[in-house]
Amino acid sequence: MIRIKSNAEVELIRESALLVSATLAELASILKPGISTLMLDKRAEEFISDNKAIPSFKNYRGYPFATCISVNDAVVHGFPNNKELREGDLVSIDVGVFKNGFHGDSAYTFGLLPIPEPHKLLMTVTRQSLLLGIEKAVSGNRVGDISFAIQDFTERKHNFGVVRELVGHGLGKQLHEDPQVPNYGKKGSGPKLKDNMVIAIEPMINMGTRDVIYDADGWTVRTKDGSFSAHYEHTICIKKGKADVLSSFNNIINAEKANQLLLSDY
Ligand code: MF3
Ligand code: CO
Repeated sequence: MIRIKSNAEVELIRESALLVSATLAELASILKPGISTLMLDKRAEEFISDNKAIPSFKNYRGYPFATCISVNDAVVHGFPNNKELREGDLVSIDVGVFKNGFHGDSAYTFGLLPIPEPHKLLMTVTRQSLLLGIEKAVSGNRVGDISFAIQDFTERKHNFGVVRELVGHGLGKQLHEDPQVPNYGKKGSGPKLKDNMVIAIEPMINMGTRDVIYDADGWTVRTKDGSFSAHYEHTICIKKGKADVLSSFNNIINAEKANQLLLSDY
């Protein structure tokens, strides 16, 4: 069942989503070679609790951390660990927060300079595919219109691999609600989109094939061929004509530009 939100509920989800964005911007400001992903996770947890919220992912189906941090060939659900990050790493950070009874969910892939051209292209194309999906996330369209836009651009135009095992989702009082929002599919298929549906759109795109494998930890998803992967996610509200994007990359991009060690302007 797809739950349509009231305008007041949408504003509460916006507050949560913007706190996720602020958390990602904070992490962008401290990201550097030599820092561990566990240190980033600790900072995120502290930042979220300083802002009177709780991390949505911690203890969700037994997930043990506040964030998912997936480096290089890790696609999503990476466990933060003690390993030091290095130049050339692609660091995908996924954060969710629960505040005032509602979740917000967003993710961003950072590049620790120097980043080779093919990896820059992967990041640009993945981020662009999210924006193309959002353009289709309007009342009257169907979920499949979003899915098709993402798959068409990443897979058919750029020959990257669209991960099939994990999908975007509705959210609100629960982190995962109906509908599922796959990053692959047919135009005109799936549930009809209506005003005030809130969904997370989150393309997970591999440089190589779409196939993935799971680590022994039972969570970390990796590309089967070892190629690098990127992941961007926004929480959005469906409206007529143009979606209302509830999370924001603006402050993340500003932090990326201010941090000389990170790729920006791609
Ligand atoms: N953005 C991901 C999702 O919505 C992150 C979930 S991680 C988990 O599916 F730990 F909460 F599962
Ligand atoms: Co999500």
